[in-house]
Amino acid sequence: MPKTIKEAMLRGVILAGGLGTRLYPLTKVTSKHLLPVGNEPMIFHGVRQLTEAGITEILIVTNPSYVGDFVNVLGSGKEFGCEFTYRVQEEAKGIANALALAEGFAAGGRIVVLLGDNIFESSIQQVVSDFEAQQAGARVLLKKVGDPERYGVATLNGDQVVRIDEKPRRPESDYAVVGVYFYDSLVFDVIRTIEPSARGEYEITSVNNVYIERGQLEHSLLQGEWIDAGTFDSLTKAHQILLNRKE
Ligand code: G1P
Repeated sequence: MPKTIKEAMLRGVILAGGLGTRLYPLTKVTSKHLLPVGNEPMIFHGVRQLTEAGITEILIVTNPSYVGDFVNVLGSGKEFGCEFTYRVQEEAKGIANALALAEGFAAGGRIVVLLGDNIFESSIQQVVSDFEAQQAGARVLLKKVGDPERYGVATLNGDQVVRIDEKPRRPESDYAVVGVYFYDSLVFDVIRTIEPSARGEYEITSVNNVYIERGQLEHSLLQGEWIDAGTFDSLTKAHQILLNRKE
């Protein structure tokens, strides 16, 4: 049966939970994702990335302490030309655990997942189009970096990602897996099969490795600068990139 436009629509999920301990004391009274980057709260950047790529239904997943602040600052979505849904992650049990909360929202459709602390210089619009043209499976974005041990690291064989290691001590490549992921509707079944890692978290890397085993993980290379703004140094850098962009 042909899908209706609503069913076929790609929905967006922004993960904005976690404790932000690396940014203490800034994050003692607010969420990392509400700290200023450029002239705005960090989360605005992720919202714009999605709306500029044509995604107008967005789920925000946050922790219980700050959900009210997110609603105060983001509202219904009218101001951004989108519609927000909010969900609370009770415990910080990892990215895949937070993503599991999006199952009802996804309504059997495909999703793009953005980590709320990832700041991009360029638009992700082209990658969204590439994923929309993809028949099934998942897609990740890779970026060559100087400090891959901080991230999920992709091992490539020719043009294929054959494995992803989460924060390996001895990375096999310089390709970090960026915090934007694209999934088909089977992702929630995949999440149910994974086990917590040694640090006690349900890792998004475990989910991506299942798609690799199935031969269903595509990738794109990210253009432009990318920052995971979870530390003081990277937060400062994100700030500079966005301020320069506005000039
Ligand atoms: C997470 C993921 C990691 C990814 C990174 C991108 O790490 O686990 O695979 O490369 O985001 O920002 P975190 O920064 O949450 O530790």
